Amino acid sequence: MSLKRLWASIYWKIVRLLNQQVRVAGLTTLAERTENFAKVTWLGKPMMQNICDAWTIQETIFEQDIELVVECGTLNGGSAFFMASLFDFVGRGRIMSIDIDAKVNFSHPRITFCKGSSTDPLILDKVSKFIATRTDGKLLVLLDSNHAADYVLSELQIYSELMRSGDFLLVQDGAADELPGAWKFRPGPLVAIEKFLENNNSFSVDSERSQRYIFSNSPKGWLYKL
Ligand SMILES: C[S@@+](CC[C@H](N)C(=O)[O-])C[C@H]1O[C@@H](n2cnc3c(N)ncnc32)[C@H](O)[C@@H]1O
Repeated sequence: MSLKRLWASIYWKIVRLLNQQVRVAGLTTLAERTENFAKVTWLGKPMMQNICDAWTIQETIFEQDIELVVECGTLNGGSAFFMASLFDFVGRGRIMSIDIDAKVNFSHPRITFCKGSSTDPLILDKVSKFIATRTDGKLLVLLDSNHAADYVLSELQIYSELMRSGDFLLVQDGAADELPGAWKFRPGPLVAIEKFLENNNSFSVDSERSQRYIFSNSPKGWLYKL
């Protein structure tokens, strides 16, 4: 092996060894500088999304031919507006966004906002009817509401039943279970994902998608139905 190659292999070994430390330091700094992403905007509207995750959502919507999105957790409607803008670019797609207490001050023809709990049977009835309107594209479910592990697990159990093979699920904010400064928010979504997968072999983690931009808020967050 040439000296240059040897140095390159040592360099990449060190980079891989430092990976988790770099992730924790970078993600903590990113959250601090953006007030935990409360300062992130899309076309002027607040969107409480880690920008690495927003970019992966954008890539997934296009690459996986997503036709419908069900979002649990609307807040100001910024993430729904972000996805609606992407759907405007591709010329199709609709979103149903659910929240017990949203603060939305706009409407968009591709978005249906629903007031209520994401596990309430009345809301789930609306979600089922919405999903039944799909034609040939895939469904993406975003879990970004109550991040307590037990609640996320119940959402996972309910929404996984509404999905079919090839559909995607993004469980957001599992970084709460990883970052030293986020101990108050545990057990969170990452614990729910792990419990869900223990008893469900029809879903798999898309590790590449979950790790693609290193500073994601959602470790093991991208799941797809086999
Ligand atoms: C992190 S924010 C959502 C951020 C939004 N997706 C965005 O990117 O801008 C979480 C939201 O979940 C809502 N929420 C909490 N518990 C809920 C529940 N059981 N059902 C539906 N929404 C809930 C809260 O009201 C809050 O607006």
